[in-house]
Amino acid sequence: MGMKAIVPSSSSRDLAIALAAELGLPLSVPEYRRFPDGEIYVRVDSTLDSAIVVGNTWPNDSLIELLLILDALSNVGAETVTVIPYLGYGRQDRAFLPGEPVSARVVADAISRMTRGVVLVDPHSYLDVSYFSVKTMVATAFPGIGERFREEGVDLVLAPDKGRAREAAQVGRMIGSDYAHLEKRRIDAEHVEMTGDVDFEGRVVGILDDIISTGGTIAMAAERARKGGARRVVVGCVHGLFVGRARERILPLVDAVFSSDTVVTEFTKFSAAPYIANVLGVM
Ligand code: R5P
Repeated sequence: MGMKAIVPSSSSRDLAIALAAELGLPLSVPEYRRFPDGEIYVRVDSTLDSAIVVGNTWPNDSLIELLLILDALSNVGAETVTVIPYLGYGRQDRAFLPGEPVSARVVADAISRMTRGVVLVDPHSYLDVSYFSVKTMVATAFPGIGERFREEGVDLVLAPDKGRAREAAQVGRMIGSDYAHLEKRRIDAEHVEMTGDVDFEGRVVGILDDIISTGGTIAMAAERARKGGARRVVVGCVHGLFVGRARERILPLVDAVFSSDTVVTEFTKFSAAPYIANVLGVM
């Protein structure tokens, strides 16, 4: 039996440490450096013959770093399974307008060429999963949101759009609360319009989503809950990117924000590691 380890990319260290503990495997941290021109350099342990690589495909530097780690491991003959905690480019999962790329497929193609199998954590859509040409499994960290909602006494789980209605129902059933969803229409990358007839009066509302990026979606849902008379509003997501003015938009409207460690920020309050470990058991 040769050496097997968890190999993290530089932005997925915390999650990889949690995963190593779950699986009882050692962590093998590559050497990461930058060339003076900004290019990324990595060097992995050349004695590894099997690795679980953990790395996001967002932001762009993390995507390059992940590809370089996979190539380095394949060069030393190590077999890899790749855990992608946050699959960046997953939202451009089709050409919405003529002339656009299918970005998710570009990313999936590149990674599929370099690894034996993939684990994705709550990818944005099932199309994303379909673009990988190696065995690909999905782990979901929404139960982690459920645990936090339970602690907060949430009695109404709300999805900001139809796309997350299923997860709202799952979390609602998990904690024994009501659930509902709004309808969202995207005007552009930063603006959305929201409709839907939900009674918020006196409720402790837990709004959930897979991704918080600019915060526009959550801010609109939270505003509706507040205007509708919600007693408290808390927010949970799996992938908390919090880009641009997300904090200024969301924080004045909500009592608490939770996200997982697929992207680490000050809002990271639970780990996706146990859910990933379960799925790795059957890879
Ligand atoms: C889109 O359908 C996703 O599920 C999220 O609702 C969206 O990506 C969040 O983006 P933002 O925070 O920029 O509104």
